[in-house]
Amino acid sequence: MITLTLEEIARAVGGTVHGASGPVTVTGPVVIDSREATDGALFAAIVGARSDGHDFADQVYAAGASAVLGSRPVGGPCVVVDDVVDALTELAVFVRDRLNPVVIGLTGSVGKTTTKDLLAQILEQNGPTVATDRSYNNEIGLPLTILRADRQTRYLVLEMGAGKPGDITHLMRVARPQLGLVLNVGPAHIMTLGGVEGVAKAKGELPRALPPAVKGGFAVLNADDERVVAMARETLAQVVFYGTGPDATVRAEDVTVDTTGHASFTLHTPSGKAPVRLGLPGEHLVANALAAAAVAGVIGVTTDRIAEALSAAVRRSPNRFQVTERADGVTIIDDAYNANPVSMRAALRTAATMAAGRRRITVFGEMTGQAEETAYHHSALGRLVGELGVEILVVVGEGEGPETLAEAARDAGVSVHAVPDRTAAADLVKELLQPADVVLVKASSEAGLSAVAAALRDPEN
Ligand SMILES: Nc1ncnc2c1ncn2[C@@H]1O[C@H](COP(=O)(O)OP(=O)(O)OP(=O)(O)O)[C@@H](O)[C@H]1O
Ligand SMILES: [Mg+2]
Repeated sequence: MITLTLEEIARAVGGTVHGASGPVTVTGPVVIDSREATDGALFAAIVGARSDGHDFADQVYAAGASAVLGSRPVGGPCVVVDDVVDALTELAVFVRDRLNPVVIGLTGSVGKTTTKDLLAQILEQNGPTVATDRSYNNEIGLPLTILRADRQTRYLVLEMGAGKPGDITHLMRVARPQLGLVLNVGPAHIMTLGGVEGVAKAKGELPRALPPAVKGGFAVLNADDERVVAMARETLAQVVFYGTGPDATVRAEDVTVDTTGHASFTLHTPSGKAPVRLGLPGEHLVANALAAAAVAGVIGVTTDRIAEALSAAVRRSPNRFQVTERADGVTIIDDAYNANPVSMRAALRTAATMAAGRRRITVFGEMTGQAEETAYHHSALGRLVGELGVEILVVVGEGEGPETLAEAARDAGVSVHAVPDRTAAADLVKELLQPADVVLVKASSEAGLSAVAAALRDPEN
């Protein structure tokens, strides 16, 4: 963060300074987790359902923090405000106004974090880049990310999530990106957003909030998703399409996927073409890579350098199609971070390519958040498991989703085992495993199946 005095912070957020006997300087970082407080930090004390940040004030001062931002005085140097989250937002706006980075906002139903990680790895070659950490993509995480920027920061890559209508509009007001990217519109968060059309509307808030083309606004849109294509009509920014079709400005040709799950293709941009072999596995990453390439192209990174960075890309966020090869030839694919119908299909397909005839054990838990479409999506998934010839399916959990999935897969000729929880799942798979098997583990995050993948990664466990 840029260095600020406590008075400057108080003025920026309309708060009052307490507990400071002399001048206090905040050099950052701004944190909400007391364990992350370091020298010079500002600790934002948030009152949550389980804990009250103010209770950790002594601990953060002891760790070297300069001050606390809270809703009541805490003894040491602090700025007191009515609403800490609003104040964090105002502070982020204040800092954003004093810096002049290229800001990129990106949203979509699936692949935001993956794409953000790829884009950051391209832009870092060009200059100092600050990108969203973990999935810090909401009204708290986004200000925290902006507050990590300083005068050296050239690129600010911001993941934006939409839990309800208006969320993206709010985040766009805070971040004011010149460049926006919409990845896709799909069945994630459909309950809170009101069906897929509601999701389209919520994601459409991003291109609508971009500056016009004459002021340097660019909307990078996925040509392969009709609901995203439609957003081109709702933005004043200059539109750049990426996709797999011949009409997309940035596109992939001759896509192949090898048995390690890595995709190769020729990247075409208006300024040239270059071969790419993605550094990370997953057929679905081609779309994410093209999105990152299109944004980087707008910023002026050459096609060769984009291709090199995509080929050298490493995993930054765990449990997203994380592949482990065990000494006994067993392949464990941990994609347990999250799941929705689109990412379930993508993972199944890539796992099938990687197996190349080896036996597949698929461990699936529930896809939550599908509302009244739960049965429809789980039964379609069960059929696909059968179509792709998966030998063994382990379904974890109870209720409509898992039960429909198990039944549909059984009907499609798959050998199905239903288990109540993740411990039972790990025990069963350990029993079933034979050398050279390919195991895919995936569910919505609530199912906590990454523990199953972790137990299987290490056969001694
Ligand atoms: N383009 C894609 N198509 C299908 N699945 C994808 C795609 N990109 C990523 N995935 C898979 O979807 C899951 C979520 O990926 P990621 O974390 O990148 O998405 P996200 O949009 O950031 O999710 P969240 O809304 O939780 O922040 C992972 O299992 C990942 O492997
Ligand atoms: Mg994310």
